[in-house]
Amino acid sequence: MTHRNILVTGGAGFIGSNVAVALKAKRPNARVTALDSLRRRGSELNLPRLRDAGVEFHHGDIRNPEDLSPPNEPYDLIVECSAEPSVLAGYDGNPRFVINTNLAGTVNCLELARVCRADFLFLSTSRVYPMARLNALDYRETETRFELSGLDGIPGAGPDGIAEDFPLHGARTLYGATKLASELLVEEYREMFGLRTVITRFGVVAGPWQMGKVDQGVFTLWVLAHHFGRPLKYIGYGGKGKQVRDLLHVADACDLLEAQLSQLDVLNGRVFNAGGGLGCSLSLFETTTLCQQIIGRKLPIDSIAETREGDIRVYVTDNQAVTTATGWTPKRTATEILADTHAWIASNETALRAVVG
Ligand SMILES: NC(=O)c1ccc[n+]([C@@H]2O[C@H](COP(=O)([O-])OP(=O)(O)OC[C@H]3O[C@@H](n4cnc5c(N)ncnc54)[C@H](O)[C@@H]3O)[C@@H](O)[C@H]2O)c1
Repeated sequence: MTHRNILVTGGAGFIGSNVAVALKAKRPNARVTALDSLRRRGSELNLPRLRDAGVEFHHGDIRNPEDLSPPNEPYDLIVECSAEPSVLAGYDGNPRFVINTNLAGTVNCLELARVCRADFLFLSTSRVYPMARLNALDYRETETRFELSGLDGIPGAGPDGIAEDFPLHGARTLYGATKLASELLVEEYREMFGLRTVITRFGVVAGPWQMGKVDQGVFTLWVLAHHFGRPLKYIGYGGKGKQVRDLLHVADACDLLEAQLSQLDVLNGRVFNAGGGLGCSLSLFETTTLCQQIIGRKLPIDSIAETREGDIRVYVTDNQAVTTATGWTPKRTATEILADTHAWIASNETALRAVVG
């Protein structure tokens, strides 16, 4: 089925805007609407870009069902990219926004999909996996990074990273918990109301148009800081910057969603992990070295040994299931991701300095 009327929620955000633009480029005759509350600072910078790409913008809040009323011609696809994506959300004693957006908001989006009988792609997160279990995995320390040994004998934990069958019991931050709770509801709507759904638990996604900040978008934050000459800190795990994440270029994330759409009947109901994988992973220390090479500036970096709430020593995605099911693999390297991010910052310097510089 060719989708002709598509809604991307969180469509002015980092992933949502890239997804909306990519979907429209592939389907020039389709109507693509980006809905966003513009809560994230910097999302407003995407509005001219969406307009130029032929994507319609609706200012709306997924917490309000009235903002999600079905249009005359019902949506046939909803890609749910809106969220409060910070792992620190709620630690300030105010959990309402993250719960209302990431959980109640998803229910409102599912209700819209049910009424429209729309297909539903849900962007979930590796943060559904519990922190304590990830941090308890056996690891070794090299000159530049921590590495998982893969010797634990725990399902879903191997030398290539974390797979979908990793145990789910334990605390995972409100961000991760609201996403996991939403996953359960996505599955119920699929079973009970016959929606076609795919859930993707992304590891760190990075690249152009991410408004990186301390609690979300760390690779972009690093590139921004090197570009603008702003201070940085290695926080936690001894303060040496050895914690590791895999990173996925946002264009690779868009390619994956496209691959899922091309075989929705087969993939209906599946839950996948997806990320850059071990071959596209970096420690903060290694990220600093790459930033120095790409941007040509060396920053003094402070060190805070104490680990921040919600942090994880190593997270790397095992892509085996998603690759087997879809044929998709990440194509862009870590160097390309940082270089593309830097090129975007350099060509939007004035606007970005005011917002995230
Ligand atoms: N970026 C990553 O590394 C990453 C990794 C895993 C999963 N994800 C998931 O991907 C999705 C997109 O993340 P992102 O990185 O683009 O984040 P983002 O913050 O750049 O985008 C989210 C957008 O949602 C909007 N938004 C927030 N609350 C809203 C509300 N109540 N109503 C309407 N819009 C609202 C924000 O203004 C923002 O534009 C999220 O669901 C996130 O959990 C992201």
